[in-house]
Amino acid sequence: MIYAANFKTNHTRQSTKTYLETLAQKLADKRTEDRVFIFPPATALDSYSGNFTVGAQNAYPTQNGAFTGEIGLEQLEEFGIKTILIGHSERREYLKEDQETVVTKYTYFMAHGFEIIYCIGEPLEVREAGEKAVADYLLSQFEGIDLSYEKLIVAYEPIWAIGTGRSATVEEIASTHAMLRSNMDRPLLYGGSVKPANIKEITAINGVDGVLVGSASLDVESFSEMIFA
Ligand code: 13P
Repeated sequence: MIYAANFKTNHTRQSTKTYLETLAQKLADKRTEDRVFIFPPATALDSYSGNFTVGAQNAYPTQNGAFTGEIGLEQLEEFGIKTILIGHSERREYLKEDQETVVTKYTYFMAHGFEIIYCIGEPLEVREAGEKAVADYLLSQFEGIDLSYEKLIVAYEPIWAIGTGRSATVEEIASTHAMLRSNMDRPLLYGGSVKPANIKEITAINGVDGVLVGSASLDVESFSEMIFA
């Protein structure tokens, strides 16, 4: 299983350090087939060691240059970071990243050998329009994305389930993952209100290779509880 923690705009450099020290101790004896990823905010990126991989939540597709407020490859390489989240719904929605921008980032970081967790997910009105509408919407987020990239992990995160406490149902996750699987052959995570109370039923679903967790990952005890559930 893959367990990924997306801190979003939470935690400081200091609290991330404390979190990762605790996590490193807890993971010392974790199941070897599991992989753990942590995506702290950009100010907390550093060269950490432990049985986990630290990645960037975002970066600009450039080595360096005049892109005020952004970080590029050079800033990630300083810490040996070779993993990135691309396409998160919050960036698509609040930062107005359209599919073309997302594809540019994807193509750039793929060319530089990054492991990419590529996020897709539909808004509530699309879910309410039925399975065909959901499939059309999600598959449109694959446009321009090289799905044969061997370091790609896909994360399905229905927007209406993010930060709402309301996870998708087991049936919704199973049918959506089955549809996605028939269109690609890479590890597939589910994200959206995953927490200790529902981790076991979610990871037990056929076609779920892991989870991408926001709120319930912010506390190291809660996140480790999920890893060891
Ligand atoms: P929550 O776990 O807070 O719903 O967030 C999910 C998410 O967006 C992870 O990327």
